[in-house]
Amino acid sequence: MTLTREIKPGVKWVGAIDWDRRLFDALIPLPDGTSYNSYLIQGSEKTALIDAVDESMADVLLGNLSALGIKKIDYIIAQHAEQDHSGSLKRLLEVYPDAKVLGSAKCLDLLMHFDLVSKERGQEVKDGEKITLGDKSLQFIHAPWVHWPDTIFTYLAEDQILFTCDFLGSHLASSDLYASDEAVVYRAAKRYYAEIMMPFRQNINKHLARIGDLTIAVIAPSHGPLYGRPKFILDAYRDWASDRVKNQVVLPYVSMHGSTRIMVDYLVDALISRGVGVLRFDLTDYDVGELAGSLVDAATVVIGTPTILAGAHPLAFYAAILANALRPKTRYASIIGSFGWGGKMLEQITVALPNLKLQFFDPVVAKGRPKEADFQALDRLADEIAAKHKEL
Ligand code: FEO
Repeated sequence: MTLTREIKPGVKWVGAIDWDRRLFDALIPLPDGTSYNSYLIQGSEKTALIDAVDESMADVLLGNLSALGIKKIDYIIAQHAEQDHSGSLKRLLEVYPDAKVLGSAKCLDLLMHFDLVSKERGQEVKDGEKITLGDKSLQFIHAPWVHWPDTIFTYLAEDQILFTCDFLGSHLASSDLYASDEAVVYRAAKRYYAEIMMPFRQNINKHLARIGDLTIAVIAPSHGPLYGRPKFILDAYRDWASDRVKNQVVLPYVSMHGSTRIMVDYLVDALISRGVGVLRFDLTDYDVGELAGSLVDAATVVIGTPTILAGAHPLAFYAAILANALRPKTRYASIIGSFGWGGKMLEQITVALPNLKLQFFDPVVAKGRPKEADFQALDRLADEIAAKHKEL
């Protein structure tokens, strides 16, 4: 079977839906699969393909093009070199020997090093450069660091379509070509933003401002559904990438013998009773994407950990390292937990978060089972958090 879908006359989705993929970058869980969107643009004189698909789906893309009777492609626009969009380029270039691969200099360099495109087949496009396909034209907008240094967007002015590759996308395998159920897509897009885009907020804001001048009827990312109502995803990104934080505490924790868990339960209730939202994650059984998504706009993170092998529990340490890499806009943090005979868990967690500009509240660490003084300290922590959140 093949699947192609018309977006506008002369513009078709010809990509692949990966219903079964469950892991990306050997790190990111894909509970809803993903798609590799590839777009065929047929002008009156020339034909272009925007982005290819993952190597594992090369046959799907080639089958779709063959079903449409495409004998010649003039340009393959490589908006980004990562292999989920470029892995099938080698096969594509064999089947379409006249095709040139257009991309930023960085992208072409990476594609050569990935052994996917030879120097002769590549053609650099500059920021703002335009090519004509006859009655359609493609303009390239350099948009580095969302999330690699090579990314470009492509604007098809005649149809007011902006192709954005990873930017504004979602890992969501769906039969919907467009984001018809915005609540579902919002959740997937936020998770995707957290996992992939969040460390690059400054670049995101810059690129959002730049594309704000374009008239856009459709946003066509290279993962997940398209947006026939671009305002939906643009507003969401403006919100996520802004400095605004929410009255929420993210509480990832691990407990070995129950003491840290008692403290977590107590703090959660103390926060809720003070009107503070809580998102808690048991680190022995959690979804990395859900934790990342919770960090997008929460004001505070409290990490709960016992002491083991003279330091923080490795699962708590890993959560801190992950949060540090994702660079959320979190403002406040603290640590709670218990110990038996001392250790360096406080120093370890604090030192693991250098990328975050955090104000730390005093930690609450109990010796063994928490006692009355520890619960009073947890109440004080909840008071401090609630007071800071009221200032937001
Ligand atoms: Fe979808 Fe960065 O590749």
